[in-house]
Amino acid sequence: MTTYLETNKQRFLDELLDLLRIPSVSADSSFKGDVRRAAEFVKDKLAAAGLDNAQLYETPGHPVVYAEKIVDPARPTVLVYGHYDVQPADPYELWNSPPFEPTIRNERIYARGACDDKGQFYMHIKAIEAMLATDGLPCNVKVMIEGEEEVGSDHLGTFVVENRDMLKADVILISDTSIISNETPSLETGLRGLSYVEVQVTGANRDLHSGVYGGGVANPINVLCEMIASLHDENGRITIPGFYDNVVDLSSEERAELAKAPFDLDEYKRDLAINDVMGETGYSTIERTSIRPTLDVNGIWGGYTGEGAKTVLPSKASAKISMRLVPDQTPDEITDLFTKHFTAIAPAGVTVQVTPHHGGMPYVTPVDSVEFEAASKAFEDAWGKKPIPTRGGGSIPITALFEKELGIKSILMGFGLDTDALHSPNESYGLFNFYKGIETIPYFYKHYAALKQ
Ligand code: BES
Ligand code: MN
Ligand code: MN
Repeated sequence: MTTYLETNKQRFLDELLDLLRIPSVSADSSFKGDVRRAAEFVKDKLAAAGLDNAQLYETPGHPVVYAEKIVDPARPTVLVYGHYDVQPADPYELWNSPPFEPTIRNERIYARGACDDKGQFYMHIKAIEAMLATDGLPCNVKVMIEGEEEVGSDHLGTFVVENRDMLKADVILISDTSIISNETPSLETGLRGLSYVEVQVTGANRDLHSGVYGGGVANPINVLCEMIASLHDENGRITIPGFYDNVVDLSSEERAELAKAPFDLDEYKRDLAINDVMGETGYSTIERTSIRPTLDVNGIWGGYTGEGAKTVLPSKASAKISMRLVPDQTPDEITDLFTKHFTAIAPAGVTVQVTPHHGGMPYVTPVDSVEFEAASKAFEDAWGKKPIPTRGGGSIPITALFEKELGIKSILMGFGLDTDALHSPNESYGLFNFYKGIETIPYFYKHYAALKQ
């Protein structure tokens, strides 16, 4: 195995770079053909790695890629999940090298999708290839790589329900999360959920001269800003009535456990070039970004933003707002509470429209399972250190759906770093992480096969 990985190192990387050259941006329909090209590429590599039945499955959106290798029906089955779609790359001008021309600098691969998630799911294809080419697969494996994760996995639910038998497995293995650092490996034991809404505030029936009408009628941008500002109180708590009702507070033991993870606040601030952090009073930065729910404006627009000055009272103002959820909040409940509250606080001079976008349930995975133990042991073998359990701040909504529809728990064996700039310009993935991941994954199969006896 070690020899195989060493001998094929350069080819593994070259293949990943080829995949990164395909701009598979799921959100933008002008990339539709590229998204399909990425799916075809993944399918071909799954077949080349020695998996059977490598195929594209059509959905009303982008295709799902699936392949499997059943070595022995009596052995446990691992279902690998990942996504070949990526976030839009803009703003392009902030990239130091073009997002779809992967470049290696300082031992890192710079490209959109380098870490999220092409670099991470590709490790699995190479690890499976290596196992099949050397000692064999200790477990059955099914691989499902989707193309709509970054836009809410809208069609994956139906795909999963329609293909229940095909997807039958004992555990889902996902590499799409982060570790604390390359010196401190960790395993995420939970993810936040998501409720995403768009709001529009409308004032007069047309844009108005800001001198003639200014001061006399509501300015939708002023109103929207005030409404948004009122959604947090002075302690950083969200003011929507009922918002925290279903939040499960962690016990002091659980919080003490979380606090054991190494975290350097100065380093954190230096990395982000900020003088101070901000958030809910009474919680640490780790807690604020993992076990506590949030509300954030992701985009806001309206009025004149072109060159120079135009004196105008816009007729409309809009914003996109995300709320990260924690157990036992649900996106339906939170979207409903938000809509009621946001509509209620609108002053009489405007009308408000709230449009829900995608959502997702929060997710937690037990740490006392053989699946978690196998993952933990895999890290120990490859990194020489026991991974620290952490709670993640991001969302992979499909994990809760897998549990509901297939009754299978997910193991979040990610190898990225929070500083890899996911969704940002200059996203990157360390060569160390790519190769270490390929080395760690086969240990999972070995331990899982042994523990699951
Ligand atoms: N891989 C991320 C989620 C993630 C990143 C989890 C880092 C933990 C650590 C995933 O691709 C993602 O970006 N998910 C979206 C949700 C989706 C509904 C658009 C997110 O979290 O914003
Ligand atoms: Mn991802
Ligand atoms: Mn993502």
